[in-house]
Amino acid sequence: MQPTEILSGEHRVIEQVLDCLEKIALEARASGRVATHAANTAVQFLVEFADRLHHGKEELHLFPLMASRGVPRNVGPIAVMLNEHEIGRSEIAKMRASLRDAETNRESVSSFIAAAFDYVELLRDHIAKEDGVLFPMAESVLRDEDRRQALAAFERVERDELGPDGASRLVAMANELAKELGVPCGTARVGATRAHACGPRHAK
Ligand SMILES: [Fe+2]
Repeated sequence: MQPTEILSGEHRVIEQVLDCLEKIALEARASGRVATHAANTAVQFLVEFADRLHHGKEELHLFPLMASRGVPRNVGPIAVMLNEHEIGRSEIAKMRASLRDAETNRESVSSFIAAAFDYVELLRDHIAKEDGVLFPMAESVLRDEDRRQALAAFERVERDELGPDGASRLVAMANELAKELGVPCGTARVGATRAHACGPRHAK
């Protein structure tokens, strides 16, 4: 498996949680109340899996390897991706802050809904750009030794950031959340990796 296939497979699981977050935000807009347990679960997944694990692999390993093969880091696609990671972190911080008192504060409900919609839109577009532009670019410049280095580094990130079963635990959490909300599971999406495959597709 290529490093970019691993990252694309992770995108499918992240998209599953984006669908969950969108549903939570839509229901909050309709009812004026946030399902805080589900919302906290989605945000926890996004912090640990999407940001710490997945963006960690990209920022600490894939992007530097691409830069070492001549892709500029301070302008162009890598710079755009890094900037969007930062915007995503700020939206996550807003969601976390809003969820602290969303059960008693209407303004926090509105803040959560706005940040959730912004984050979902940002990440869907970001993922499409990585899958469609950045990863093909990586495949065209990386050499076999770079791919081996990236794969070993990805395993280290997974172990060091989340512990031996951390990624599986987070994927299980994402699947439970999807089941609870009636959102289709990531295996329904093309490219989900075996490591991050989930159970049978849940009915909508
Ligand atoms: Fe990504």
